[in-house]
Amino acid sequence: MKIIAGNWKMNGSSDALKNMQDALRDVDTQNTVILCVPFTMLTPDGGRAAIGAQDVSAHDHGAFTGEVSAQMLRSAGAKYVIVGHSERRMYHGETNDIVRTKAESAIANDIIPIICVGETMDEKQAGKTMSVIESGVRESIPSDPRGKIIVAYEPRWAIGAGLTPTAAEIATAHELIAKTLESMGLGGTPVLYGASVKGNNAAEIMSIPNVDGVLVGGASLKPDDFIPIITAVK
Ligand code: PGA
Repeated sequence: MKIIAGNWKMNGSSDALKNMQDALRDVDTQNTVILCVPFTMLTPDGGRAAIGAQDVSAHDHGAFTGEVSAQMLRSAGAKYVIVGHSERRMYHGETNDIVRTKAESAIANDIIPIICVGETMDEKQAGKTMSVIESGVRESIPSDPRGKIIVAYEPRWAIGAGLTPTAAEIATAHELIAKTLESMGLGGTPVLYGASVKGNNAAEIMSIPNVDGVLVGGASLKPDDFIPIITAVK
């Protein structure tokens, strides 16, 4: 069984979500399906998909204009939340420390954080891919999560760019993440791959060892693109 998580980013509408839920109703799969939607579309009624958010405040409550706490996400129906997505790290300066605090807040409120790590093009070209991934895992995950977490490996240079690493590169990254998690006492934590996943590469990517599912951006917006990914592996 795999985990297929969609990240709608700042796209969609409540009507589009309903349309997706209708389309997913009869999809024949054992895989876990998650839809991470904008805050305004969170709902306790996810249908076939579990609903997730795309960010959470590191704070519990108070004078933090525009922020949404994990407790609020939970009461709005979120079961999951993406933390440390590359666009949050890039446009909002989120560091591993901030990401870890957000993950802690999610866990404390019974929300499963999907913790993203991955290297930029500059880091890749400087030969730092492995060290960035390892420090991302060690520093972004709460030391004692005491709850379920999901990790997502997202090579930041490949997101939304139509680029994908080679199968060997994905395998190497996921092996490192699996070993790092093991050394942290978190063996068995699911690890997703994300960046330019499409219907025509999903099956191959999910056959790579230590890839427990995928985190899908652009191709999660329309049922015609998303359903082939969900059913790529039964
Ligand atoms: P993409 O995005 O599938 O559009 O490359 C992936 C992501 O940002 O999670």
